[in-house]
This record gives sequence, structure tokens and C-alpha cells, in this order.
Amino acid sequence: MMIASSIDELQVARRLLDGTVGLVPTMGYLHEGHLSLIRLAKSECDRVAISIFVNPTQFGANEDLSKYPRDLERDLKLIDPLGVDLVWNPTPEVMYPPGYQTWVEVESLTRPLEGSMRPGHFKGVTTVVAKLFNAVQPHRAYFGQKDAQQAAVIRQMVRDLNFPIELVVCPTLREADGLAMSSRNKYLEGADRQSATVLFRALSAAKSAYENGERDAEKLRALMKEVLASEPKANPQYVSCADYDTLEELDTVKGKSLLSMAVLIGKTRLIDNFVLG
Ligand code: PAJ
Repeated sequence: MMIASSIDELQVARRLLDGTVGLVPTMGYLHEGHLSLIRLAKSECDRVAISIFVNPTQFGANEDLSKYPRDLERDLKLIDPLGVDLVWNPTPEVMYPPGYQTWVEVESLTRPLEGSMRPGHFKGVTTVVAKLFNAVQPHRAYFGQKDAQQAAVIRQMVRDLNFPIELVVCPTLREADGLAMSSRNKYLEGADRQSATVLFRALSAAKSAYENGERDAEKLRALMKEVLASEPKANPQYVSCADYDTLEELDTVKGKSLLSMAVLIGKTRLIDNFVLG
């Protein structure tokens, strides 16, 4: 397994990767969700590269950049058995040297949902992912459905900027009680861990109503809010039932749709979603 930090090291290592290359971008503190992306990449590509970089430009001023969990040694141990060919672990100075001034921005898809709560977040994500794509030049790139809007925004960027890269979106891995795996679950202490299952319970309630024929999007949103309201520690930021492609809120559910939410459990901000149809 080659480990690169600078752009020069990355380029030397990249030249040694023959055949199809799959890239799995991450911010580290890896869990089974990340590992499932790596395993899928390994099964579909000749070579697999992963990036581990806590990207400062996608964090808002009041967000958790400084306390975001980081442990490279732990991450390397976790991926050791998976046959990863290259790990790129740049520093913020490698990605954003002094004088840096170029940004990639996707427009309307970034406005609702996460974009409405985290101004500038997706500009940081698309910029860093474009830089990762340019540096690694993968044939395929792997993202999680867990961050549904992120996957949609990156798909739009790939199309608009003609990146010759196939995007693969992988299902959300969950704990036994339904909580979506996330590096931020580490913040959930004591009773907050149990309270955090309310996102899965709310999404499940709306999904079963949908499966029983409910197509009124406002009723599905109301049902999710009702379940969230039953959990005293949960403070919802948004609850959405939107078109899967445009992310616009629906009146009536038809075709592929996205149920999604962001909820504060104590101080920890969690997101989750289910796809309908
Ligand atoms: P990070 O939160 O580390 O996630 C890396 C990838 O793992 C993302 O594509 C995310 O959707 C996926 N992932 C996270 N939890 C998952 C789960 N429970 N099941 C399946 N996949 C899961 O997302 C980012 O980093 C960053 O924004 C990044 C794309 C690396 C750009 O900085």
C-alpha cells in the first residue's frame, strides 16, 4: 500500500497504478460504511485509491472542523486487510496553498436541504472533490447514499464539467438498531446514542405509510415530524420529501423520491434519508 501526502508523491504513486482505478474520497475516522465503499471499489476496479482529508473549506465557522475525529494510524489498520493500493493523505497546505483562489460551485441543487443549513458547504465539497478527481484521475469514484444531496451535487458536477468518471453510489450501512454509520456518531454520549435512532424510526414510519399507499408528501413530512417530536432530545433542522433528481419539495409523491432530514441530538448534528420508488 503506497501512502502519499504531497502532489508530487501522489503523481509518482498514481503512475504505478495500472488498469482501472477506483477512488473512494473520505475524511477519515473510517467505519464500516466507508469500508463497504472500498470493498465495492475493490471488486469493480483493478486498483483502489482512497483519500483521507478533513477538508476545511466544507466546514462552516461554527462547525466541528477542529474537533472532527482524526486518527490516521487507526484508519490504516482498518484498511490494511482490504487491498487498497494507494492512500492519499494531503495536508490543508497541499490542497489550499497560500494564494489559493479557484472554486467549483454547483447552483440550484445546492440550495435546499443541507445547503440551506450549511451555506458554502457544497462549494467546499465540489471544490475538493474536483481537485481529488484531477489529481488521481480515477475511472470510477464511490460515494455513499447516506449523503444523498452530496452524491446528487457531485453527479451534476461530473456531468457539467465532463469528468470522464463513472460515479457509483453505495447503500447506507447502518448499526443493528438502524442508526446510519457516521464518523460523527462518536460524539453521541450516554442516552444520546439511543435517542439518535429516532431518525431511522421517523424515516421508517414514513416509508411504511408510503408502502401502504400514502402519496401526500405533506402527510409524510408530518408523520416524520411527529415521530421526531416524540424524542425530547431531538431538534429537527429540516424534514423533507423531495423529488430524487431535483431535490424540490413535492406535493404528491410520484416516481423516485427522497425522504431526508437533519436533526440535532443534543449538540450532535445527524442526517439520514430513505429513497422511495
Ligand atoms: P465522509 O463523511 O468521510 O464520507 C466519505 C464517504 O463515505 C461519502 O461518500 C459518504 O457518503 C460515505 N458514507 C458515510 N457514511 C456512510 C454509511 N453509513 N454507509 C455508506 N456510505 C457512507 O463525505 C465526505 O466524507 C466528504 O464530504 C468528501 C466527499 C470526502 C469530501 O470532502
